Amino acid sequence: MYVCICKGVTDRAIREQVAAGARSFAEVSRATGCSTQCGKCSCFAESLVDEAMSRGVQIQAVRQS
Ligand code: FES
Repeated sequence: MYVCICKGVTDRAIREQVAAGARSFAEVSRATGCSTQCGKCSCFAESLVDEAMSRGVQIQAVRQS
């Protein structure tokens, strides 16, 4: 699904950036262009980054146990 219409950024692209090592919304934004125009997508995009990072931490915790 498109999260950022202005830059054509999808939820998948955001999750892929986190999986590739992005550790903040700012990093995802720099890499994808998300939220760099009108900014109306920023709240939802940031929540997706937080969710993806949280899931990544949970997966790492399971792998380490
Ligand atoms: S919808 Fe993302 S910058 Fe406009």
